This record gives sequence, C-alpha cells and structure tokens, in this order.
Amino acid sequence: MKLTPDQLAQFDRDGYLFFPGMFSAAETKVLTDAVPELYARREVYNVREKGSDAVRTNFAAHMYSEPFARLARHPRMVEPVQSLLGDELYMHQFKINGKMAFNGDVWQWHQDYGTWLNDDAMPEARAMNIAIFLDDVSEFNGPLMFIPGSHRKGVVDAKHDLTTTSYPLWTVDHALIAEMVEKAGGKNGGLVSPHGPAGSMILFHGCLLHASGSNLSPYNRVSVYLSLNAVDNHIRRHKRPEYIAHRDFTPLRLLPDDCLLKDYPVELPWKSGMPASALVTSTDELKLAA
Ligand code: SIN
Ligand code: MN
Repeated sequence: MKLTPDQLAQFDRDGYLFFPGMFSAAETKVLTDAVPELYARREVYNVREKGSDAVRTNFAAHMYSEPFARLARHPRMVEPVQSLLGDELYMHQFKINGKMAFNGDVWQWHQDYGTWLNDDAMPEARAMNIAIFLDDVSEFNGPLMFIPGSHRKGVVDAKHDLTTTSYPLWTVDHALIAEMVEKAGGKNGGLVSPHGPAGSMILFHGCLLHASGSNLSPYNRVSVYLSLNAVDNHIRRHKRPEYIAHRDFTPLRLLPDDCLLKDYPVELPWKSGMPASALVTSTDELKLAA
C-alpha cells in the first residue's frame, strides 16, 4: 500500500496520517488474543504501572511472539512508511501499550525523537511511529493527542522525567505546549485526537508532540506502537537495553498481505529467552566502520 501524493502532502503539513479500520476484526483478534499471556509474564520487558500490577508497556514482542513478529513485517504497516522514509527500514522499537481500564496512567507531552536522540544517539528524525489500535479508542479511554504540524519545529527542549510515571521519558515543558497548541489553532484544531475502531492505524512523525491522559473508563486501550528507522540512520549508542532500543539493523523482509491470518514461518530469536547481551548498556558512542 503506497501513499498517494495527497497523503504525502497531508503528512508533511500535519505530521500524521490516520487510517481507521486498516486491519479487519479477524486480523486484530489474532493480536488481541495473544496479549494476556504476554502481559502475565514476569519479565523485565513488561513495565508495570506505578503502584499497580497493570502492564503499561510490553517491549519487543516481535522477538518472541508469532502474531506480533508477523505484524512487524506486515506490508499494510511497512509500505506506507517506505513511501515516506525509503525502502531500507529496521525495527527500532516495538511496544504493546496497555492503558488498561481504570489503571492506565498518563503519557506526558513528548516527542519520540527527543528520546531517540538523547538516549540512543539516532542521527536524524528519519524514523516513523506507527500506532495500531487493538481496542476501540474513544474520548473515554485515554486516547493519544497530537499538536498538528508540531513536527515542523524539529527537536524542542525536553527534561528527563524519571518520577511522574513508571517509565522514564524526555518530556516537554507545559508553557511551550500551551504556546504550540495556540500557534496550531488553539481551540480550533490546535489539538487532535484520532478515535476509531480496533484495527485502526496512525503513522506519526518522530518530532510530532503527543501525550495521552489516564484511562478511568472500564474499557482497555491496548495499542501496538512500532518505530521503524531508516537503516543508515541506525542508533549510535546502546545506553538503553536492547529490548527497548534494538541493535539489529538488518532491513525488514515483508510477508504477504494475509500474514496475520495464515501461518507463514517467521523467526523468533528470543522465543526461549533474551540473551544476556540484550541487557548490557553503555553510554559510549559506537565506533563505526569507515
Ligand atoms: C507513547 O507515546 O509512546 C505512548 C503514548 C500512549 O500510549 O498513549
Ligand atoms: Mn511517544
């Protein structure tokens, strides 16, 4: 699925594209059904909410779960990103965010590229975020919010927030957010929040400012967040463990369009556990071959 010139122009202007119902109910169910067993695991790659057992983020499921390994290679997800970034892409990060009923905590205002730059030494903002809803998303269950067009400002100042939630994040000052919402149209379009059925997909720029409120509704808001990076823009630092920021820069090989409904073989390198090397971190810049 390639993007049209109109969609490319819309992405340039707004910093995101929304595709309601991109995956069918049958395709989405294959993914949703796999989540409870993954969330039940007592593993370092399951980050739980502060003061609760609810999973906030599961990392790297594409390395050990078949349905998610297939999603990671799905042409309906990868091809539009290839239209925007070029052909050679690898998976920088793969998360299944819980935002569980009554327990899902906030995500403060941030840009993902802020973290990729500050922590991972990713040279440029040539990586794309993709969100895929595994539950219906409404105004009630903590939907994602964007400031449209905010990606055009590039990287803005951020502070490392180690306390507000259970997951460290480079977050942006509220005064700057208020100013940018005003510039984007204030009450007339300065904030948007894509809502839609399970199976919907959003592509959003690494510099697009985004946040989400808590989920006090009785409805889960499980979503998959994938970050695809251009191979030549691979990260230069391993300050975060490999299950958070991946270190294998091999280009993704796509599966056929029906890969969520048929059993195509797929590699699961961490099926029997993560190697100890995945936990080794360093603040040094990588030495690159000349
Ligand atoms: C994120 O920004 O990585 C997650 C936001 C959310 O799950 O609402
Ligand atoms: Mn984010």
